[in-house]
Amino acid sequence: MNIEGIPYRTIWPAEDGVAVEIIDQTRLPHEFVTLRLENLHDAAIAIKNMLVRGAPLIGATAAYGVALAMSDKTSDAALEEACATLAATRPTAINLGWALARMRALLLPLPPGNRPRDAWRAAAALCDEDVKINRAIGEHGLQLIRAMLEAKGEPVNILTHCNAGWLATVDWGTALAPIYAAFDAGIPVHVWVDETRPRNQGASLTAWELLQHGVPHTVIADNTGGHLMQHGMVDMVIVGTDRTTACGDVCNKIGTYLKALAARDNQIPFYVALPGPTIDWTLENGVRDIPIEQRDAQEVTQIRGRTAEGELATVTLTPHGSPAANYAFDVTPARLVTGLITERGVCLASREGLLGLYPERKR
Ligand code: MRU
Repeated sequence: MNIEGIPYRTIWPAEDGVAVEIIDQTRLPHEFVTLRLENLHDAAIAIKNMLVRGAPLIGATAAYGVALAMSDKTSDAALEEACATLAATRPTAINLGWALARMRALLLPLPPGNRPRDAWRAAAALCDEDVKINRAIGEHGLQLIRAMLEAKGEPVNILTHCNAGWLATVDWGTALAPIYAAFDAGIPVHVWVDETRPRNQGASLTAWELLQHGVPHTVIADNTGGHLMQHGMVDMVIVGTDRTTACGDVCNKIGTYLKALAARDNQIPFYVALPGPTIDWTLENGVRDIPIEQRDAQEVTQIRGRTAEGELATVTLTPHGSPAANYAFDVTPARLVTGLITERGVCLASREGLLGLYPERKR
């Protein structure tokens, strides 16, 4: 994507070849700042503290984290330690474990001396693959938006939750990829952007990247979607996912489930866009089996923004002494999902639907 005319990915190897550069997403939308990750520790902290976030980008950063670790020490023990350190950063997005398993399987059989070179190459290949996958998701999702345009006229009003855009992946995004593809194809779209408390990925990140691309959008408080749906102001919902089970249960940012319930009550199609690596083929029941990250309560009790004087400030919202809970994700059962938009096409959210697109997963 372009930021003021300059093409960027969200992660890239530094020119000196010894570090990785990222966009610090904790500074958006107020400041666009790039940062260098110099070693394994930097990569792990970037994921844990959400300087990078979004399931595919977490996986890409973990792959580069392994490459940074291998540049330092190349032993089997160092590889295992790097994978364990990165795996412990965030529990919910399966792309993290997927990327680490892929790096480990490639590097472990190699002579240690070859590991740094091959690790950097593998991380770069994983990023290129992510971009290719997301572009394909965009093309498949575009057909759904085009069909909606033909069915109801313009503009097509799409509601999204959290940030499953360019910033959550290496490029293009998952849920936002069809929206960018539709916009670029000249289809009039308008996006309702859920603010996505407590970390406000919608208000801070989705709004920012849609603005960069020129896509019409409106930021709404999280509780607004149901009202808009009742009044015919939402044509479809498209969200991303951090982990989808083999049966099509979808784990995504907290609050997604409530949007799916409201969409079902109003007969509004609810789509989930996802790359193949986000499918956890080992799990069936998402509500029961997907680990849900719980983060610091301060993310709920405090909020950060820019004051009228232009300063960045953090303020407290809650009474001193009120405990807060911060569940970061929830699970939308497959029965509430109209379809899954993948790089291989659109399918029903079911084992049969997924196996139709990924037949190599049949036992
Ligand atoms: O906590 P975050 O910001 O990492 O959560 C991100 C999401 O929930 C996204 O919707 C999901 O990762 C899909 S990203 C293409």
